[in-house]
Amino acid sequence: MGDQAKLSVAGAEHDYAVLKGSVGPDVIDIRKLYAQTGAFTFDPGFTSTASCESALTYIDGDEGVLLHRGYPIGQLAENSSFMETSYLLLNGELPSKDELASFENTITRHTMLHEQLANFYRGFRRDAHPMAIMCGVVGALSAFYHDSTDISDPEHRKISSHRLIAKMPTIAAAAYKYSVGQPFVYPDNKLSYTGNFLRMTFGVPAEEYEVIPAVEKAMDRIFILHADHEQNASTSTVRLAGSSGANPFACIAAGIACLWGPAHGGANEAALNMLKEIGTPDRIQHYIDRAKDKNDPFRLMGFGHRVYKNYDPRATVMQSTVREVFDALKVNDPLFETALRLEEIALSDPYFAEKKLFPNVDFYSGIILSAIGFPTTMFTVLFALARTVGWVAQWNEMISDPGQKIGRPRQLYTGPTQRDYVPLDQR
Ligand code: CMC
Repeated sequence: MGDQAKLSVAGAEHDYAVLKGSVGPDVIDIRKLYAQTGAFTFDPGFTSTASCESALTYIDGDEGVLLHRGYPIGQLAENSSFMETSYLLLNGELPSKDELASFENTITRHTMLHEQLANFYRGFRRDAHPMAIMCGVVGALSAFYHDSTDISDPEHRKISSHRLIAKMPTIAAAAYKYSVGQPFVYPDNKLSYTGNFLRMTFGVPAEEYEVIPAVEKAMDRIFILHADHEQNASTSTVRLAGSSGANPFACIAAGIACLWGPAHGGANEAALNMLKEIGTPDRIQHYIDRAKDKNDPFRLMGFGHRVYKNYDPRATVMQSTVREVFDALKVNDPLFETALRLEEIALSDPYFAEKKLFPNVDFYSGIILSAIGFPTTMFTVLFALARTVGWVAQWNEMISDPGQKIGRPRQLYTGPTQRDYVPLDQR
């Protein structure tokens, strides 16, 4: 028998198995706790709860380690491509040359949208936030691709997964085009996944669009950095929505809605807006003081993380990518100096050191995306585009598990106990 944890409730002792993963903290299996003790556990925010078993992504927050299927994020960012990392997440192993070529071909051939979807966009206001458009359009995909929504059929799951990964750049680029009043640009099968996205976003039918290789590489790397991140809020949302048997397009739309919040994917937009507001390095201390003030709701955006209590390894890669993009585009945004100085001041301040608050993936990404030409409202859209592969891989992992059950948490009820209804004229 493996390790056991003992819990004493109302004088009775109960044993619970301690499960061991391949790496990471042990997990106490409390599935029988309610049946045996009549008690629930209380963990709002899930700070101590493993909500599922997964073989996709591992994070060691204390050491600042992020592994996809065992491979460190730094190695993937340096050597892999977003398509290859997507294959790895979906299939568990790095592809052979032929497997990668076949996967890229499949994704490339699913990038076009149903023509009727263009009309769907026209229902939105021109000034709609592109994340609002993403929630709506991705949710609507199930109305257009109903032929791949039988989740009990592995082939349907595969096709819908490929469709989601392939169409997300087209949907995201169209959200941008709609907001600037330019025509939608059709995908070009000659280009890479990322080059195609850049062309659909920044190209116009009136002239040839030339993909700048260094920008394409940086963008692809940003996609790799956002591809998956264990059981974060939006991924847990996708899993919970999917646990009821909802179709994958609906589940990913739910994930996009969750990602939008400023505590999650919306932080990249908020971080750049904050840097713009700070402006020059001489104003940093004022904002550091505000972030430390308990009576001020202001937080340093792009700083802190639920899991990382060390430097987010994605932020390290992101920081070095800033210079590559600046060099390729021959630009130099002074906000980068402000960001570097802000990081330096924050990391030498006891408040941030004691609370283990470090830059996260969102701190530097906005500077790169802004240099490439994206408006801040598109930042979270790019996060959603890349995270789609993680959501889809996690959703597939869940649905393929024969022991999968609907997610149904319980609560600590603190409302009124039973009482009798009082007719209106007697209140
Ligand atoms: N600035 C100032 N203080 C902070 C910050 C910050 N960015 N983040 C956390 N703290 C303080 C917080 O006030 C609290 O202090 P105390 O213990 O005295 O009450 C302590 O640190 C712990 O914070 P928490 O809110 O209890 O921690 P959490 O794990 O619930 O929240 C977080 C994590 C990411 C939501 C939070 O750090 C935050 O709001 N950061 C800014 C938003 C951000 O950058 N989000 C992107 C996350 S990474 C991308 C992604 O995966 O979505």
